[in-house]
Amino acid sequence: MNEAVITGKQIVGNFIEFTCTCAEVAQHAVPGQFVMVSVSPTLDPFLNRPLGILWAKDDSFALLFEVVGRGTSLLACLEKGDTLPVLGPLGNGYSLDASSALLLAGGRGVVTLHFLARRFKELGIPVSMLCGVRDSSEIMLERYIIECESGLRLFCCEEGVRGLFQGTVVDALEEYAALHPLAPETVIYTCGPEGMLRELAMHPLLEKRRVEVSLEALMGCGFGVCMSCARKSTEGYMHICSEGPVCALSEVTW
Ligand SMILES: Cc1cc2nc3c(=O)[nH]c(=O)nc-3n(C[C@H](O)[C@H](O)[C@H](O)COP(=O)(O)OP(=O)(O)OC[C@H]3O[C@@H](n4cnc5c(N)ncnc54)[C@H](O)[C@@H]3O)c2cc1C
Ligand code: FES
Repeated sequence: MNEAVITGKQIVGNFIEFTCTCAEVAQHAVPGQFVMVSVSPTLDPFLNRPLGILWAKDDSFALLFEVVGRGTSLLACLEKGDTLPVLGPLGNGYSLDASSALLLAGGRGVVTLHFLARRFKELGIPVSMLCGVRDSSEIMLERYIIECESGLRLFCCEEGVRGLFQGTVVDALEEYAALHPLAPETVIYTCGPEGMLRELAMHPLLEKRRVEVSLEALMGCGFGVCMSCARKSTEGYMHICSEGPVCALSEVTW
């Protein structure tokens, strides 16, 4: 475990953003990777929790997590100056060889895609980003959408909110593709809830396209030993922590 020091904390609705200092994580992290975070100094809860990396630069990195249960509630109590034991960066990352990219984020799936969009922007690769949330309690996630000069951004909400596109990310994709037909070379990157990913996997617009997805699973170790993150794929079973979390959408069995 590395000892990261929390240097900033922001409460963003039901989400908490921590900025941390830890050269070992920050200097090696690539978009799509995650860290296993210890949520308690005691053995209760016993398991570390996986969290994606929001960005990394020099000796700093950031996490953005939704408070959903015991572990994330304990994490949310930490303050600036506290130490956060983290293991990582773990897993693979998104490929960075696209000549243009379209990023589709659902809810907290925005975390790793925010990091990817920042990296594409640095590399001068045109990137467009569509991000969707379920209801108005999550609209503050809009601040994590990145756009570069040549790309487009669209934030949508399933609940009607004035000024926002109403619908799911899949609805937004259809609207977007009607106005800006997807170039054959555009690579699609996605992360979000299972329902959204399943719909995308079956969507005719993405058929025969290169689509990379970052998957979530319940995780015990985070590095390929405990088998708790096994998921059926077209190749048999994959361990999301060590063979993922990023893989081709077409490899996933729904
Ligand atoms: C590779 C990876 C990256 C992740 N990145 C982020 C991130 O950047 N930000 C973020 O907010 N969350 C992220 N998650 C999800 C996060 O790990 C869980 O929300 C967290 O572990 C819940 O811990 P808890 O103790 O608060 O909740 P628990 O009490 O353990 O669970 C609360 C509820 O959340 C569900 N849950 C717990 N873990 C997961 C999971 N891995 N996938 C789906 N449902 C789960 C449980 O079934 C339960 O219904 C990521 C998960 C993975 C595998
Ligand atoms: S979390 Fe232990 S093998 Fe993947």
